[in-house]
Amino acid sequence: MKKYGLLATFVCAPVLFACSDNSHVDTAKADLDHTVSEGSGSSTQTQHARVEKHVDTGIASGVDYHSFANPNEVRVTHLSLNLTANFETKQLVGDVTLDVERAKPGNNTLVLDTRALNIQSVSVEGESVPFEMGQTDPDLGTPLTITLPSAASSVTVAYSTSPEASGVQWLTPAQTAGKQHPFLFTQAQAVHARSFIPLQDSPQVRVTYDATIKTPEALLAVMSASNDPTTERDGEYEFTMPQPIPSYLIALAIGDLEFKAMGKRTGVYAEPALLESAAKEFEDTEAMLEVTEETYGPYQWDRYDLLILPPSFPFGGMENPRLSFITPTVIAGDKSLVSLIAHELAHSWSGNTVTNATWRDLWLNEGFTTYLTYRIMEMIYGHDRFKKEAVLGYQDLENDVAALEQNDEILAIDLRGRNPDDVFSNIPYEKGALFLREIEQKIGRENFDAFLMQYFKDFAFKSITTDTFIAYLNDTLIQQYPDKLDANRIHAWIFEPGIPEGAPQPESDAFTKIDDTRNAWLSGDVKAADIETAQWTVHEWLYFLNNMPDSLTKAQLSELDSAFSLTSTKNNEIAHSWLMIAVENNYQPAFDRLYSYLVSIGRNKLVKPLYRELSKTPEGKAFAKRAFEEAKPGYHPLTVKANEGYVN
Ligand code: BES
Ligand code: ZN
Repeated sequence: MKKYGLLATFVCAPVLFACSDNSHVDTAKADLDHTVSEGSGSSTQTQHARVEKHVDTGIASGVDYHSFANPNEVRVTHLSLNLTANFETKQLVGDVTLDVERAKPGNNTLVLDTRALNIQSVSVEGESVPFEMGQTDPDLGTPLTITLPSAASSVTVAYSTSPEASGVQWLTPAQTAGKQHPFLFTQAQAVHARSFIPLQDSPQVRVTYDATIKTPEALLAVMSASNDPTTERDGEYEFTMPQPIPSYLIALAIGDLEFKAMGKRTGVYAEPALLESAAKEFEDTEAMLEVTEETYGPYQWDRYDLLILPPSFPFGGMENPRLSFITPTVIAGDKSLVSLIAHELAHSWSGNTVTNATWRDLWLNEGFTTYLTYRIMEMIYGHDRFKKEAVLGYQDLENDVAALEQNDEILAIDLRGRNPDDVFSNIPYEKGALFLREIEQKIGRENFDAFLMQYFKDFAFKSITTDTFIAYLNDTLIQQYPDKLDANRIHAWIFEPGIPEGAPQPESDAFTKIDDTRNAWLSGDVKAADIETAQWTVHEWLYFLNNMPDSLTKAQLSELDSAFSLTSTKNNEIAHSWLMIAVENNYQPAFDRLYSYLVSIGRNKLVKPLYRELSKTPEGKAFAKRAFEEAKPGYHPLTVKANEGYVN
């Protein structure tokens, strides 16, 4: 294989892209005004009728700085996957046939993204065609450039993945619940699909796909595609995904999986040991699906199933279409953490149907989804629970705003030269949701619901940029409600750091009581054992713990622990909050639990803050290092990468 730099470094890619036409990305940006306007802070300024861009950041809207692919010249439209999972060598082996469309005749150069792939051959109808691997970028992988025969409308790449593929985790039987069979799962978002399929790994390229997956006979394969719950377990499985989806939503899992229906269109796949408890915990999924359809329009994806992963799954959930991937750490026994399901379900509208065109636009996925999540939770579990979850979310946002660099607090974040994995925060989620809640409050809920329903319809199966959304807002709500919406303010929400002054501030009466209780305990007026906690839900516990002062005495910690058995709580979120307090105050009695927590859970949101906190003292760091070394063989590559800096 020849190796020379087609694109010497990825900084060149934007230059290439910026020259080409982005018409596939945006449908509504033609009338967006890019001219420079005066600063938006001045109070003497007259109100703008439209949201405009006021600074030229040099970021080209719609340019995907995280892909080498050239979809504006030759675009992949369909994938046909043929893969065998080899658990001995930890490799997926086989081929993919990519259907292509040329923007104009004569465009015969197809550029794909790859990462640590072994490319065996590239062929068109059985005949080899020339290909070259470019220079490798540590974050983005290696471009694969193929010269297509001018008549070719598809090309086949034979390849195998590497055992260390960043988007695949291979688990030994010991790392599963059943301990008998190995397990495999993929996690493609943001830029890891390229580590298991050579493709145009950009969210603005949508493909349909079909797949044949071969596995050891005892195992079942499932994908983000049509899954047949009654399929025979014979080691060969067929899938189709007829709706065009972005590459980051392609997903595969293989394991000793069984299925249980929860409703007409909903069910759960899990290892046998977890199946019943998962189906019970998530039994409201069908109702969530129904209320979301009533409010935001039809569900476009046929079935909606859940897949329960082993505890090393690095996220809470991943919205793979038709089959959300879910961490087992939310099976709490009391449905207290099911907002995660509402969130992944909501992505079926915001994210999977209407998709961010680049990772800069992630807030269009996560902010809309977080807003929808709150609404779904309110519809299913009522206003009080909604208010509590909104306060907890707001506090997460405030903490991030206090800790992050200003540039990282901007919804339309500048990710040039950065790995999207390294920029994960609550900003696109909670700030994005708060922005939408403000619009809702200004124009009225019914009107905003109607707007969102139309938005999901107008951009269905499209990938859009922040600018497209702004253009759409200018043409819709800003026209309809000129007295209620302020274009400058909308601009500030999207392009400025922090939380705009006067933003909606969630409140909960139930939590006011918790503040009183905490204060009474802190001042010594009540004993922990005398606090009436029988009616507390997980939310009260989290609010009680998360708002403790930075330092507590050993006596206070022991008192809390003996009154409430916090060190042995079975709820993983409460455990997280308590263990954070334990680390901050070096409360040794909780450290055995801390150790087992770190080695048994790979969900990064739960373990990373603990590693970060531990790394602040030499003893803490030594402890973290021991836990990390033991946990590492079971951690997902993303969790390893996110935390190794804290222990070395
Ligand atoms: N799509 C995200 C996970 C993700 C985001 C993966 C960005 C890679 C890059 C998923 O929907 C998500 O937001 N998960 C959250 C759920 C939570 C906010 C309810 C998680 O895993 O914590
Ligand atoms: Zn999400």
